[in-house]
Amino acid sequence: MNGLYDLGECSLEQVHALVARARELREGAATRRFDGKALGLLFFNPSLRTQASFQRAAGKLGLALVQLQGGAGGVWGIEFEDGAVMDGANAEHVREAAPVLGRFVDVLAIRAFAGMKSLASDLRDPLMNGFRRHAGVPVVNMESALWHPCQALADWATLEQHAIAPRAKFVLTWAWHPKPLPHAVPNSTLTMAAQRGMDVWLLRPRGYDLHASVIEQARTLAQRSGGSLTITDDREAALRGASAVYAKSWGSHECWGDLEAEIKLRAPLREWCVSADWMRKTERARFMHCLPVRRNVVVRDEVLDGPWSIVIDQAENRLHAQTALLESTFAALERSPRQPSNARPILETLP
Ligand code: CP
Repeated sequence: MNGLYDLGECSLEQVHALVARARELREGAATRRFDGKALGLLFFNPSLRTQASFQRAAGKLGLALVQLQGGAGGVWGIEFEDGAVMDGANAEHVREAAPVLGRFVDVLAIRAFAGMKSLASDLRDPLMNGFRRHAGVPVVNMESALWHPCQALADWATLEQHAIAPRAKFVLTWAWHPKPLPHAVPNSTLTMAAQRGMDVWLLRPRGYDLHASVIEQARTLAQRSGGSLTITDDREAALRGASAVYAKSWGSHECWGDLEAEIKLRAPLREWCVSADWMRKTERARFMHCLPVRRNVVVRDEVLDGPWSIVIDQAENRLHAQTALLESTFAALERSPRQPSNARPILETLP
């Protein structure tokens, strides 16, 4: 592997190899060690699972860790628009920040959520793509505006762990939440289930479609893997015969950046909260969520504390999946090491 941006860009062979390795690691296999190599973790947003699991994975692999925080008190505010006149809050451009970090570490992992103000900007995934373009080292996406591929990889490993068949019915359902959330998790969840060849049902109320490009990629991947994708607001039909119900809340593209409109749109949708009644309509489905989750808002206690929930296994598999991903990425770097970045004498480079 050479880092990871969107699981949908990986071949099935690559994903199968990572999931198989994640399983070996979960069962106690020893990891390779890459002493003297370094992993950078740069978080522009909060995290519990991602932060802890990447730190632990780095320890297992013998990597030095450079961990930095974005935002107030962390790294300088980073500008990512090319040609920007930087007379505002941001003190440093990604064109310097990314390659500088790339000189300190061998692989760089970044978390940079959607800004949720401009849809056009969020669809370009600017911070993540700025770092990918300019870092000069492999970049791992720890959740960007568009994708959360490490979560999706761990979820794939969890489906295998619970023997949920590749062709089983998988429901990704929207759930109510007090505020609009980004699309990275639902985008990657849909992609993962389609790529695995599942009978995927996207259950959402009117106004909560995922982006057309994400749907198109999911349809292509499903077709390639022998799966299918159905989009509906018919809860009974979606839950009937389901083997997995994955809940997540996300914002409406129709109201992006307009909190008042969003709150009005979702006001009548509070009953979109996964309950035991929902789960009893399924074929003894497993309940999945990436966490953190708001209890009795997104899903009821009875589901999280009941026999359906596998959310803690999903979280544990973050560690194994990411250890497998980093092991593969550092092994690839060993095969084609970076050239030292000695400066050429300036006179040779001037026109
Ligand atoms: N699922 C997930 O990424 O959790 P954190 O936001 O706590 O890292």
